[in-house]
Amino acid sequence: MVVLMGGPSAERDVSLSSGRECAAALRDYGYHVIEVDAGPDLAQRLTDAAPDVVFNALHGRWGEDGCVQGLLEWLRIPYTHSGVLASALAMDKDRSKQVFRDAGLPVVQSVLALRDEVRRAHVMAPPYVVKPNNEGSSVGVYLVNEAANGPPQLSDDMPEMVMVEAFAPGRELTTTVMGDRALTVTDILTDGWYDYDAKYKPGGSRHVVPAEIPPQIFEACLDYSLRAHRALGCRGLSRTDFRWDESRGLDGLILLETNTQPGMTPTSLSPEQGQVLGISFPELCSWMVEDASC
Ligand code: DAL
Ligand code: MG
Repeated sequence: MVVLMGGPSAERDVSLSSGRECAAALRDYGYHVIEVDAGPDLAQRLTDAAPDVVFNALHGRWGEDGCVQGLLEWLRIPYTHSGVLASALAMDKDRSKQVFRDAGLPVVQSVLALRDEVRRAHVMAPPYVVKPNNEGSSVGVYLVNEAANGPPQLSDDMPEMVMVEAFAPGRELTTTVMGDRALTVTDILTDGWYDYDAKYKPGGSRHVVPAEIPPQIFEACLDYSLRAHRALGCRGLSRTDFRWDESRGLDGLILLETNTQPGMTPTSLSPEQGQVLGISFPELCSWMVEDASC
């Protein structure tokens, strides 16, 4: 089998960490594993290696947005996680929100805007968040709070079209879906924003799992994450992130996004949820391999 990792996206380092963890676990489980860092010669390398299955540990653009999935379909190699359409939809925050709305799931109000337009004037009343429409791991996220004097001066690295989203206050909750089962809910506690460092630095955040929240909210997270997974047409593992404003009860629960390639690093949430339910990391990886298709 090939474990695909790295690649050219902004989440390259996260993917290398996910990929190495998964490759080691699968080797311990007895699989013959070849690690492949996804570069421009990927099609040739996969043709040469002719693996029976590809474990996709890529994150971000090209690896999580349907591109590599299309290549694997073309090469007729079974692969883990979601297929082309679900990956492309989930990675596009604006389009996935349309799918969630149609499925009756609660999302926060947002608009797509040109980078220059966002720099010139507030596109909506603060507080709001500006983010690339198609990146993960909080790469390139700007929080514009009520005290901000002017509009955010977005860096030139930001894409020309960005998403501007009303800020949803509250606790960070997340649920992993494994096939047709929503695992549990994690409450993520941070000192400030759950940003890149809080996500990947050991001790950057504290996870309470299962989350100590009212049963109604817990059940709603399980229900919404399964419905989101199905509405997008996801396969295998996915992870859906929420914000919950507890002062508003169930109305305060908002679905932020579904990740079709959840992080598998030592600080990542999905493997931890599996462990809490008695599914070891190698068992989780092995289940994903068994579930692979094309
Ligand atoms: N985008 C990262 C890898 C995650 O959602 O876990
Ligand atoms: Mg994400």
